[in-house]
Amino acid sequence: MTLIQAQAKGEVTIRDLTKSFTIDGQTLTVLKKINLDIRGGESLAIVGASGSGKTTLLRILAGLEEPDAGGVLIDGAPVHGLGRERSVIFQEPRLLPWLTVLGNVAFGLEVQGEPKSEAAERARHYIRLVGLGEFEGAWPRQLSGGMAQRVGIARALTVQPEILLLDEPLGALDAMTKMTMQEELNRIWAEEKVTLVLVTHDLEEAIFLADRVLVLPKAKGGAIRLIDIDLPRPRDRNDPAFVRYRRQLMSEFGLH
Ligand SMILES: Nc1ncnc2c1ncn2[C@@H]1O[C@H](COP(=O)(O)OP(=O)(O)OP(=O)(O)O)[C@@H](O)[C@H]1O
Ligand SMILES: [Mg+2]
Repeated sequence: MTLIQAQAKGEVTIRDLTKSFTIDGQTLTVLKKINLDIRGGESLAIVGASGSGKTTLLRILAGLEEPDAGGVLIDGAPVHGLGRERSVIFQEPRLLPWLTVLGNVAFGLEVQGEPKSEAAERARHYIRLVGLGEFEGAWPRQLSGGMAQRVGIARALTVQPEILLLDEPLGALDAMTKMTMQEELNRIWAEEKVTLVLVTHDLEEAIFLADRVLVLPKAKGGAIRLIDIDLPRPRDRNDPAFVRYRRQLMSEFGLH
């Protein structure tokens, strides 16, 4: 007898992905023939030197940028433009200043045509999930950086995406808020069972959150590297195995 298992949603297939930019008449190939399969529900971190193409790759996955060659499939369907199954979170939360926390989080659902009361109900659920239950009536200007970013995360989750794409979402936060938010992201990822693709320049953040870390090559045309992070969760930053991964990743960048 054959058991047909339901395939996890949010599977990303990247095939021979190539992207160049022309700056001042010079062509710069940023991503060259990238091949990668991201499992549904996986947490993947993307690291690489500044200018190595992390944001470009994420923008292509989001459908905000078209590749020159090759392409991306989500659950087997080619990506062209934005899609409901994907939500993007940038470094700055970009909240609408004339809407409350609740208004901001419900906005995406209302745009999708969800009745107002149902949109509000669903938005409240995600506002509570990110720990801002008491602030649904607050205005963006009344929030700290960490709180605003949580609103951004709640807004992205409310449309119930299969895939969360994050570009240095915690980059602007202070060290302590950042660690708290990393724990929150870990919990949200586990609860929501979304595929998480996280661009970060913080190697510790990558090890804390990811099942696998994708290292983009420094020299253009070099090969990507994939590192499995085989550690139980929640992860302990002081665990000797964690520290070994940090050393290994640092050495990828010639750091000690
Ligand atoms: N729209 C664009 N037009 C021209 N060049 C671009 C464009 N977007 C990105 N680039 C170039 O592509 C390269 C990769 O940029 P990208 O923003 O993807 O890097 P990154 O890895 O995200 O860097 P950082 O860590 O600094 O955010 C850079 O050399 C950049 O100048
Ligand atoms: Mg970037």
